[in-house]
Amino acid sequence: MLAVTGLGKSFPGVRALSDVDLTMRAGTVHALVGENGAGKSTLIKVLTGVYRPDAGEVVYDGAPVRFATPLAAQRAGISTIYQEVNLVPLMSVARNLCLGREPRGRLGLIDFRRMHREAEEALGRLGLRVDVRRPLRELGVGAQQMVALARAVAVDARVVVMDEPTSSLEPREVATLFGVIRMLRGQGVAVVYVSHRMDELYEICDEVTVLRDGRVVHTGPLAGLDRLRLVSLMLGREIGEVRAEGLTKFSGTHDTAAEPVLTATDLTVRHRLCGVSLSVRPGEVVGLGGLLGSGRSETAKAIAGALPTDAGRVSVAGTAVRPGSTAAAIRAGISLLPEDRKAEGVVPGLSVRENIALAALPSLSRFGLVDDARIDRIVETFMKRLRIKAAGPHQKVGELSGGNQQKVLLARWLALHPKVLLLDEPTRGIDVGAKAEVQALIDELADDGLAVLLISSDTEELIEGSDRVVVLKEGVVVSELTGAAVTEDALMRAIAAVPAGGPDD
Ligand SMILES: Nc1ncnc2c1ncn2[C@@H]1O[C@H](COP(=O)(O)OP(=O)(O)OP(=O)(O)O)[C@@H](O)[C@H]1O
Ligand SMILES: [Mg+2]
Repeated sequence: MLAVTGLGKSFPGVRALSDVDLTMRAGTVHALVGENGAGKSTLIKVLTGVYRPDAGEVVYDGAPVRFATPLAAQRAGISTIYQEVNLVPLMSVARNLCLGREPRGRLGLIDFRRMHREAEEALGRLGLRVDVRRPLRELGVGAQQMVALARAVAVDARVVVMDEPTSSLEPREVATLFGVIRMLRGQGVAVVYVSHRMDELYEICDEVTVLRDGRVVHTGPLAGLDRLRLVSLMLGREIGEVRAEGLTKFSGTHDTAAEPVLTATDLTVRHRLCGVSLSVRPGEVVGLGGLLGSGRSETAKAIAGALPTDAGRVSVAGTAVRPGSTAAAIRAGISLLPEDRKAEGVVPGLSVRENIALAALPSLSRFGLVDDARIDRIVETFMKRLRIKAAGPHQKVGELSGGNQQKVLLARWLALHPKVLLLDEPTRGIDVGAKAEVQALIDELADDGLAVLLISSDTEELIEGSDRVVVLKEGVVVSELTGAAVTEDALMRAIAAVPAGGPDD
């Protein structure tokens, strides 16, 4: 259906793709995997007309093609969900779904009634019930991703490309997505699937191509390819070495002090949180469990002063923190790695170095002078530790691969040396190698006495990483798992339980 030969693409200073051959067959799901910065998104962008290749050929349905724009590729039947959701936040959900092919009436005007109805139907089929007239930005990241999916499958595509479609989806939505993928496969569509989540690949993909440093190092059927071997191909390390390290890096429980350093009491945010109380002790990792919309991110934001609360108190080491102020929270030692990295995160036009030092700058300056040597050391340490793939500390963050941008943000909040670290999906979009590194780092920080609040929709990560899990449902704490009760089973049961009373209207 779609094949590339000898594809090459360079950016100033980086060879993103060299001599890539790849064949995608009708009715198969083809996994495209590799470390952060391996070239996956670049390959997809070359295929779909976002970038022009420097060398090589793309053959679609038997004929060589070169799409000038993504829209041209889409018109030809190649539908793509890009890693960076490329929707328009201020436009309505319905408009985003139909962008570029809005239903029009006789005078050429957009037929809004029809557009709204069609949008509702398309989303309804994916189990998403939202007001399609509202601006897209009012939806959570996961729901936005479902809109992108609905948009991609609404057209009669012959190739559907998905670049990390599940990175912000909940298990239930992932199940819906997989249903859609199976349906597409049944219809003879060629699906290209990029993900860093191993279990997903084995569940849904038929074939796999592994990229490393812009080259294809393996291609073939996925069944029969051992998981450790796949990881070792991606990382370019020996199987034995990968096996010895294991796939998650959490070391187990931590020694925690008796007195909590973070105490949140009765946090209430109209419609979203209802009397949430929790505490975290120094050296403890507390997980926040729950489904999409259960109030996990809201809890973290309320604690960090990033979401105004209607009631409730936050204190650090016994001292009350002024509510609703991120600056006050940072001064008190609370730092938050937010979920929506795009809106609240990296500054693409600034360098890696500047992005990492951004939040810590006040503490790295004395009498208005910035301690450059210290910043250099910090930046170097984190770039190495988190394996940030960049030409150097002065490269613009906007030029890094998606996963590497995430790592830069993580470094920014770690460089603050907080007392309390709130991590909202810290390993989302991060490759297996670096993920283990991030998990080891979380452990190490806890061992150093940091209090960590961990939000992760990766259940394995939440269970293995947390000493204790507080489960939220509809903005209410419904249970707490401790010690031996921190298991996947118990978490699922707690999530399924009925809360005593939801947030008031
Ligand atoms: N616009 C750009 N300008 C300069 N370099 C770029 C640009 N886009 C990508 N690169 C570089 O090309 C390489 C491949 O990036 P790409 O985004 O394809 O990686 P990826 O495999 O999708 O990684 P991830 O898993 O993190 O999404 C990286 O070294 C990246 O820094
Ligand atoms: Mg990418």
